[in-house]
Amino acid sequence: MIISASILSADFNQLYKEASDVIDAGADWIHVDVMDGRFVPNITMGPVVIKNLKKDKVNFLDCHLMIEDPDSYIDAFASAGADIITVHREACPHLDRTLDHIRSLGVKAGVSYNPATSIDDLELIKDKVDLVLVMSVNPGFSGQSFIKYSVEKVKKARNIMGPDKYIEVDGGVDDKTCPKLLKSGANVFVSGSYIFGAEDYSQRIKKLRGES
Ligand code: DX5
Ligand code: ZN
Repeated sequence: MIISASILSADFNQLYKEASDVIDAGADWIHVDVMDGRFVPNITMGPVVIKNLKKDKVNFLDCHLMIEDPDSYIDAFASAGADIITVHREACPHLDRTLDHIRSLGVKAGVSYNPATSIDDLELIKDKVDLVLVMSVNPGFSGQSFIKYSVEKVKKARNIMGPDKYIEVDGGVDDKTCPKLLKSGANVFVSGSYIFGAEDYSQRIKKLRGES
């Protein structure tokens, strides 16, 4: 189980400290939600933030690009220090080329699907994908309710991708939704408001892992 803590719900007055505290509390990756105000109705952070986060214990950045025309920004995110770059299926008319581009920069390639987007085309591109991100809310904001039919989608993604790839789920992940997702084949769990909404991040992470 990989826990990818979404810093969208962290205190932006002290973003690096929050990222490093949540790693100390037991998170594996830092999930960075990049939004452009066009693909989604919100604007957040870009390569400069990523560059400043990547140091010491904050050493794995899982970058979720919720932007239009991601191809124009992939180089900038890779040189800023992204370890995974995930693009949205809906924003990539030439997905095959986009995935090749990401990997050519030595970065892991992810593809994300909005709740109402079918994942059937994964069959075609699976060899070019390191991570499939199943959105379990409509992207744009943290703290939204989990969309239940995502569980079936996770199952399907696992069947298509086989046992070794990352199947990540993002949106409304908490101690109640996590066990079902784990059973369905997810192995990377993004969590924002559930972790950062508590005083004790480590207790929340343990609960996600089913340890307390
Ligand atoms: C939503 C983002 C998520 C968000 C998750 O568009 O992609 O990563 O931060 O937040 P929670 O865990 O609060 O649903
Ligand atoms: Zn995200």
